[in-house]
Amino acid sequence: MEKVEVRSLVKGDIGEALRLKSQAGWNQTEGDWRRLLKLDPQGCFAASVDGQIVGTTTTTMYGRGLAWVGMVLVDQGFRRRGIATKLMRAALRHLDEMGVTTVKLDATPAGAPVYEALGFETELLIERWSGVACGGTDVPDEVVEAAEPSLFFELDRRAFGADRTPLLKALFEDASDRPLACMTPGVGRLIGYVFTRPGTDAFYVGPLVATDPAAASKLLEAALCRLTGRRVFIDLNTTFVGGGEVLASRGFVRQRELIRMRYGEVSGAGTSGSIFSIAGPEYG
Ligand SMILES: CC(C)(COP(=O)(O)OP(=O)(O)OC[C@H]1O[C@@H](n2cnc3c(N)ncnc32)[C@H](O)[C@@H]1OP(=O)(O)O)[C@@H](O)C(=O)NCCC(=O)NCCS
Repeated sequence: MEKVEVRSLVKGDIGEALRLKSQAGWNQTEGDWRRLLKLDPQGCFAASVDGQIVGTTTTTMYGRGLAWVGMVLVDQGFRRRGIATKLMRAALRHLDEMGVTTVKLDATPAGAPVYEALGFETELLIERWSGVACGGTDVPDEVVEAAEPSLFFELDRRAFGADRTPLLKALFEDASDRPLACMTPGVGRLIGYVFTRPGTDAFYVGPLVATDPAAASKLLEAALCRLTGRRVFIDLNTTFVGGGEVLASRGFVRQRELIRMRYGEVSGAGTSGSIFSIAGPEYG
């Protein structure tokens, strides 16, 4: 059998990485790959056979307590030969060397058996919804565009249970549209926020973080209003019942499930009910 080599993924590999993600029908852009590489240049891996890239994976660390694995992709012509497993072992070794105690990911049904065999355990389900956004109501007064991301850092840390500051900064820097913030009337205290970004097939809405479901629903309505006429994907935490209602009432459909899985120490990080929609399966 041909020899599979696993090495660091570098910027020059992005074209091939995009080929693999298109083959899988995923939504990430070149900008998404660049951001993942920038967030952890040592933690992204490529598998090659005779110099041809046939697999990828990325890792993103949120401090030492939590890291996320994403973009596990294997060329259709090279599946069931242990390549995803090899890439995962490289990713887990890297994170172990970095002293990371808990690793999580959002698995497709195809990926789940690979991770189970490596010792990952299921935590909860995330639902992918898709549809064309239509502005049903006016944007509520409490929802405003945020001029800079530092406003979100503390709320996000409390909600997510780990520090996603570098990710939030990077999403903000790359954003064509500013994120939306939900403030309490009068005092103007931040109670939620949402980012939107373009993908190759649809706009992506997330992360959506809020202190309560009412604020989350307002932010979701406002984000959909802004994206009127665009195709949209959103990965909802299944505990956000109101979110499904807002989306279903606007003709969105549940497209598929993602399985949130954990490896290493038990940790609530990334799974709280204040995370109404995730930042992306590759980020948590
Ligand atoms: C999921 C994916 C990455 C697996 O890659 P792979 O290189 O074929 O996986 P491996 O060969 O390392 O599989 C290891 C084991 O996982 C299980 N497994 C892998 N793919 C499976 C499938 N489609 N159905 C059932 N079990 C599967 C098997 O137990 C397999 O061992 P075996 O072949 O000896 O039976 C690949 O199918 C892919 O790129 N799919 C599209 C994108 C995707 O869904 N990625 C996962 C994101 S979370």
